[in-house]
Order: sequence, then C-alpha cells, then structure tokens
Amino acid sequence: MVHWYKIEHAEILKNNGVSEHKFGRKIICITWFENQIYAFSRKCPHAGAMLKNGWCERGKIICPFHRHEFDLTTGKGNPEQYNFIHIYPIKMEDDEYFVGLEIGFWQGLFT
Ligand code: FES
Repeated sequence: MVHWYKIEHAEILKNNGVSEHKFGRKIICITWFENQIYAFSRKCPHAGAMLKNGWCERGKIICPFHRHEFDLTTGKGNPEQYNFIHIYPIKMEDDEYFVGLEIGFWQGLFT
C-alpha cells in the first residue's frame, strides 16, 4: 500500500541542496535538480554515508564519501558500482508536492 505524504514547503527546498525529511516512520532525502523535485534513499548502499551531504551533477546524486553516483530518476548507480538507491515517486496536486512511500497494512490503518 502506498501512502502519499505532503512535502511541506517544497518550493523553499529549491535552495537547500539535499535535505532529510521524515514521513511516517521513514527518513528520506529530497532535492531539486533542474526544476524537478526528487526523493530518494537516505543512505548510500556502498558504505552507508548519508546522502544529505551529497550533491547533484548531470542528473545524479553524488555520494560525499567515495563519489558513487546514482541516477535521480532510476536510482541506478554507474555500471562499475553494481548498486542502486531507492527512488520514491513524486506527484503534484493543487500546487502541492507529495511523495509516495510503501507502508504496511496495519500502519496504513492508523496513518
Ligand atoms: S559510502 Fe557512498 S560511495 Fe562509499
């Protein structure tokens, strides 16, 4: 089951680089790149660095530790990396942005 969480003050985040946000029980990263908002995993799959300290180039989030790169649309790492991050879906309704996260059945009853 996917639950859509509102991204508060999404437009203000345009100037914040990569930032962490808590939705339900999960903490994820959000960033803007070329006027598009993206939501993705908090940690790098290589050695667990926090991606909030990373930056975006050429449509990719760059990990600050060893510079692994992940596509902001697919989550795929560069071919030689053999890894990926999770990309969360974004939707816009009534000028508000929402991010979709999978939640369990029981959590869904109380969210
Ligand atoms: S921890 Fe991210 S590239 Fe190594």
